[in-house]
Amino acid sequence: MKLKNKVAIITGAATGIGRATAVLFAKEGAKTVLADVNVKEANETVNLVNNAGGETIFVEADVSKEADVKRMVEKTMEKYGRIDILVNNAGVVLVKPAEETTEQDVDKVISVNFKGVFFGCKHVIPIMKRQGGGVIVNIASVSGHIGQVNHAVYGGTKGGVIAMSRALAVELAPFKIRVNSISPGAVDTPMLRGDVKTEAARRGVSEEEIKREFEEQGLLKRWAKPEEIAQGILYLASDDSSYITGGDILIDGGWTAQ
Ligand SMILES: NC(=O)c1ccc[n+]([C@@H]2O[C@H](COP(=O)([O-])OP(=O)(O)OC[C@H]3O[C@@H](n4cnc5c(N)ncnc54)[C@H](O)[C@@H]3O)[C@@H](O)[C@H]2O)c1
Repeated sequence: MKLKNKVAIITGAATGIGRATAVLFAKEGAKTVLADVNVKEANETVNLVNNAGGETIFVEADVSKEADVKRMVEKTMEKYGRIDILVNNAGVVLVKPAEETTEQDVDKVISVNFKGVFFGCKHVIPIMKRQGGGVIVNIASVSGHIGQVNHAVYGGTKGGVIAMSRALAVELAPFKIRVNSISPGAVDTPMLRGDVKTEAARRGVSEEEIKREFEEQGLLKRWAKPEEIAQGILYLASDDSSYITGGDILIDGGWTAQ
């Protein structure tokens, strides 16, 4: 049990990578707080965590709103009295040509993917400082490393998350708070399925064709399972990675190696 008695907040835990991380953390002994805007799917994650023998609570929170993030952190302190790990995973994607992208689109993606990550970090810092340490894992993307067509705003936020994590690692190292990011490639989640649907409709081709294109991007020629990303998050959240801070781990099936 790599996270025995550790308290972890996981945002965006209702589906996909966040859900897989919640279940894995439960199996590894963590007590978790799961945050999301999707209450229905989050309740299903809570059931899965309970079935895995984990202790958890759900907090409905929109990470793009600082007041919600503050409340999420307060609820965690009320319930468990400490925070060892924060996984900033909540995110939204936007696949659109730049010239069709509206101001609202830009605001939405920046609010969730960039501001949401920042607010999470900001509000756990004083607690982790008081405790004498902690770990933050932020979920970025291959989009933060390479250019992807129709992903300018999304990729911009993910590049921002990588840079933010690095800067915070520098700022927080004196307080024994490690900060790292993970950059997944194509992962089989509702987000990627939605992406495929949008792109297929836009180009008037079948979803199967777009899926195959995504699969071809990586050297391994398949999508990752959310569980394969969760393993990386576990590594960065646990003491196994005690000498890693300010880093980014690509879990992309070799996508960016080419
Ligand atoms: N799936 C991929 O291929 C892929 C690739 C690279 C990076 N990522 C990143 O991984 C993370 C998880 O994505 P996923 O693929 O599991 O997608 P997903 O859509 O299954 O999960 C994202 C979760 O975030 C939640 N969320 C969205 N907006 C929120 C908000 N304002 N406040 C709180 N929760 C909110 C959603 O309800 C959902 O439960 C995201 O940051 C995403 O950008 C995904």
